[in-house]
Parts: sequence; C-alpha cells; structure tokens
Amino acid sequence: MSDRIDHLLNETRRFAPPEALAGESATKAELYERAGEDRLGFWAEQARQLQWETPFTEVLDWQPPHAKWFHDGTLNVAVNCLDRHVEAGNGDRVALHWEGEPGDTRTLTFADMTAEVKRLANVLEGLGVKAGDRVAIYLPMLPEAVAAMLACARIGAVHTAVFGGFSPSNLRGRIDDAGATIVITTDGAWRKGKVFALKPTVDEALREPGHEVRNVLVVKRGENEIDWTPGRDIWYHEAMADASAEHAAQAFPAEHPLFILYTSGTTGNPKGILHTSAGYLTQTSFTHRHVFDLKPESDVFWCTADIGWVTGHSYVVYGPMANGTTQVMHEGTFDTPTPERPWQIIERYGVTIFYTAPTAIRTFMKLGRQHTQSSDLSSLRVLGTVGEPINPEAWMWYRDVVGGGTTPIVDTWWQTETGAIMISALASVTTLKPGSAQVPIPGISVDVVDESGTPVADGDGGLLVVSEPWPSMLRTIWGDDDRYRSTYWEKFGDVYFAGDGARKDEDGEIWLLGRVDDVMNVSGHRLSTAEIESSLVAHDGVAESAVVGATDATTGQAVVAFVILKQSASKEHSVEEAEQILRQHVSKDIGAIARPRQVFIVPDLPKTRSGKIMRRLLRDLAEGRALGDTTTLADQGVVDAIKQQFRGA
Ligand code: PRX
Repeated sequence: MSDRIDHLLNETRRFAPPEALAGESATKAELYERAGEDRLGFWAEQARQLQWETPFTEVLDWQPPHAKWFHDGTLNVAVNCLDRHVEAGNGDRVALHWEGEPGDTRTLTFADMTAEVKRLANVLEGLGVKAGDRVAIYLPMLPEAVAAMLACARIGAVHTAVFGGFSPSNLRGRIDDAGATIVITTDGAWRKGKVFALKPTVDEALREPGHEVRNVLVVKRGENEIDWTPGRDIWYHEAMADASAEHAAQAFPAEHPLFILYTSGTTGNPKGILHTSAGYLTQTSFTHRHVFDLKPESDVFWCTADIGWVTGHSYVVYGPMANGTTQVMHEGTFDTPTPERPWQIIERYGVTIFYTAPTAIRTFMKLGRQHTQSSDLSSLRVLGTVGEPINPEAWMWYRDVVGGGTTPIVDTWWQTETGAIMISALASVTTLKPGSAQVPIPGISVDVVDESGTPVADGDGGLLVVSEPWPSMLRTIWGDDDRYRSTYWEKFGDVYFAGDGARKDEDGEIWLLGRVDDVMNVSGHRLSTAEIESSLVAHDGVAESAVVGATDATTGQAVVAFVILKQSASKEHSVEEAEQILRQHVSKDIGAIARPRQVFIVPDLPKTRSGKIMRRLLRDLAEGRALGDTTTLADQGVVDAIKQQFRGA
C-alpha cells in the first residue's frame, strides 16, 4: 500500500470502544487519573492485588539505573499463579485448553496445573536445584513448558527459556552464560506435519565439556528415536511418577530473580535480560487485566506467541496465570493441516481475546479471507497485536475480517527489557487509531525526544524513551552490569533509551517507527545484524560481510546479507551455490529464523573514508530505492559494481 493511503487511513479513522464495553469505561478511565495523581501509590495498589507473605512497606528504591520495587515484601510467584486460585475455589476452572498439531487435546484445570507444578518442584529439588540456581528450558508449546517455568519460580530457581528454533551453539552459549545446571527439553514436537526433534540439539550443545549441566529432563512427546546419556538424562514422566504431590512453597523477596531471557542486541553477543519477581508479576497481571479488558470468569484468552520469547513468558505464563485465566495453547503452525486451523481453534474453544503478531495477520491476509470466514468467530470481543508496527491496512483487515467489524484492537508496544506492555490502548476506554500504539498505560511515563534529549513537539518524530522506572523493568544484563548501563541509560542520563524511533501525532499519541539501531525485527523477532555478520565471517569461504534488515511485505523486515568471498571460495563455487551454502550456514549456526532471505556475493562493500560500512546504502540497494547521499563513500566505484550485480540478480 502506498504511503499516501496509509497516511489517509491514519488521519481519518477513529474507532470508539463498542457499547458492550462502554459501561466499564468510566472506572477504567479513572486508572489514568489515579496513576497521574500518585504514580507510586497507584503501583502499590496494583501490587496489593497479589498475595503477599510479607507485605511491602516501600514501593520504589531508585538508585539510577537500578530499581527495587516493593523490595521488603516477600511472596511466591507460583503460588500467585496457581495455588491461590485453587484456594479461592477456582480449582476446576480450565487453565489450559491445549491442542497438539496432529489434533490431540489436553485439558488442564488450575488444580491440575498446581499438582503438576508441585510434583515438578519436588523433582527439581530432588536433582539438587536450589533457589538462585539456573535451569534452561528448551521446550516448544507444551503444557510442560508452562509447568517448568512455574516450578522453577516455585522453588526460587531462575529459568532461562531458549526458543526451540535455536541451534546447538546458540543453546550452548545461553547455557554457559547463565551457568545452567539442568536442561528441560523434549524428544521432539510436531511442526508442519512432522516431528521436529529437539533432544539431539541439546545433546550436540552439551557434547563439548566445560558446561555445568548435571541432568537433562526429557518430556516424551514426539516418540522419535533419541540418544540417551545414562546418569544424565531422565524421562520427565518417570521422575514425576516417583515424586510427591505435596510441596510447601516458600516465599522469596520481591526482588528475587525470576528469569533470564536472551535477546539480540547491537553486538554479536545476545544479552541476558534479567527480570525479578513481584514488580514483573504486578505489571504483567495489571496490563493483562486492563489492556484486554479481561473477565477471568468468562474469557478464553489465546496468545499465539511461543513460550521461548518474552510474549510467551508475560502473556502465556505469568500475566494470564496470575489472573486465573482460561487459555488456549497450540503446538505447531497455523497452516497445518490447512489454513483454517487457527479459526477452527477459536470456534472450538470460544476464544474471546486473541493476541498475535502483525506478521501473522499479513500472512492471513495473503491467504485470503475465505479461510478466516469459514469458522464462527463471533466469540471474539478483543483483539491484540505485538512485536512490530502494524500497518493500517492490516489493522483494518484484522478488525473487519477477524473481528467482524466491531472488536477493538489493542496495539501493544513493549520489549523483552520492559517485561510487560508499556504503550497501548485500553480496550474498553480508548478511541482507537489504526496503526498507532497510542498512549502509555496508566503508571508509565514515556516521551519522544530529539538527539539532545529534548522532547519533540506534537507532530514530530524522534527517539522513544521511558522517563520513569517501572515495576516490570529489566534489572540488569546478567553478568554484565556495565553493558546494562551503557546500552540503556547513558544516551540521555537517567531515562531509559528503548532503541525505537517514534512520532507523536497532533494529539500527543505515539506511532512507533521501528528500531534506530542495528537490530532487525523479522516476523516480530529480534535479530542482530552483528550476530549474523559474525556467523557469516566464521564460514571458511567468507572474507567480509554486511547484513541489513530490508522492508518485507509479510515479515516486516527480512535479513539481507552482502558478502565478499575469499578468492579460494569464489573459484570453488558458482555465485548461486555460494549463496545457498551461506543461507544454510546461518540457519544451522544460529537457527532457521536468522536465515537470510537473500545473500548477495559482492566484489566490495561501500565504506566511508574512516572504514565504516555504509549500511544505509546497502538498505537502499536491498529495497530497490534510489541511493541517497554517497559523497562520504571512500570509493564511488564500489556501489556501481554492486548495482551491476543487482541488475543481474
Ligand atoms: O522495535 C520494537 C518492536 O519490537 C521490539 C522489541 O522486541 P522484543 O524484545 O523481541 O519483544 C517483542 C515483543 C514484546 C521493540 O523495540 N515492537 C514491539 N511491539 C511493537 C513494536 N513496534 C511497534 N509496535 C509494537 N506494538
């Protein structure tokens, strides 16, 4: 769609909350007022919705850039997500409607999940796991993944979940950095009609000595043949059968570490984002309740994010479970066996709130509305998106075709680092603007500033910052507090620099414009240009490489690599062969999500006189645009040579 039409849609369309939700508006709108009058008092009230063992007396201790929230209180995160719902008489409420890709199903109530987590807590303790120890979770969308995270939380162990698509070396890097002593995985899981093996990746990751992993706990799912290391490997179901169903949970301090989640930054090394307990749980549960207008007694919530990403942590596990929500969880992909699958699931379970990524919506659009409309979607009452900017055209399609032209859509902006939603409409309050994330949620202060840190005028663009600490903020980068300071807190003093560009419109509402650093966003997943470049140059045949994120109609951005081959490699392979080999190499080295859409073998790379690669030019080339200013180029001939290459491509 052209920018002009986008612009027209942006400026003209407004959608007030539907009548059915309007009754709630007034009380919900008061949240902004209350938070505006007394921000810390407001967060304290939200935190008191949790069950505390020792109530806190201090809300925030802020020694920039380090925050402690509710720090003299104690609680148990798993008790808040499970036991308290059972104790309140809601043990029979369904926690998970799980559906496997082949069509098998499991229904787990809150009582079932509590029992599972208690047993697993005993298993982990039996394996010597103590509070503060790290446990790696390499599991796909199985109920055991939720149980694993909550069992760690129950005993105060720190989980680090690794997305199932990551390679052995990436898994190993995370295991080593976190110092994990236990890995929880599965033999394999269903994906696109086949069993996708995970255990071999763990075996490969642990092959070289030097790690601290004592045991690998293996969930049986795929029934595929796997290698077994006696003494190290343990079947999950066997360990659970022997474990006691009783487990007394201990309370931990509010700031006790809850999890580490690795995310790509601007260097080749992923950052271990550390989240802690009570503040994180306060903001994930608050946002889950109010952004989506949740009614835990009657709603069926479906967040489609994988458990390995932050959205799976905050809006499959912690927020919804803390709120006692009935959820749908689905193994496998949306198009298996047919593109009707997600819509059939919504109809089957009567899903009322659906939360997915713009890239999925654009894929549904491409497939055509007939698939979507083949099911009865009338149960849906709120829709959400996350992970990347949503173009107004996709927003309108989502509302019209999925939402029957009436459901509110909340576009939620946040990050691994922020832990929970920061900027979003509230479904029952906000008049919506397609394409804009709109306003900070109550209790959050954000701004758009220029390079000097001065707030821009309404209508202008700049850099997004969070100007006050928030409960679910990251506390540090695991093992690297200096990197924490320099990445997020040095650019503008004591405000948090998010790495995103943004524009404030005439009403002061916020439009996200994408990353301003060398981080790409592919299908809502973060990838670092530097990480892929170092993977490419690690290949024998590669002399130099530059990677850029080029705009892509479906995935938002796509990985495009420019590579200079070593002479020996150019003699050995044709250009086409080399391109294929290198795409495969990155996929194997990092994971399929990082596989470049295109690899261009080039004779040279455009550099400034000081030797910096001019990525902007490469992005222009990859997106087929006329080149901008090339006067700082050291060698004008380089671009001509690459352009020549492109004409041939
Ligand atoms: O660029 C922003 C984009 O995703 C980045 C965060 O990525 P990650 O930590 O992987 O977390 C994704 C899920 C929370 C942000 O810096 N982003 C996320 N949500 C939006 C978004 N961009 C625009 N609109 C959004 N709603």
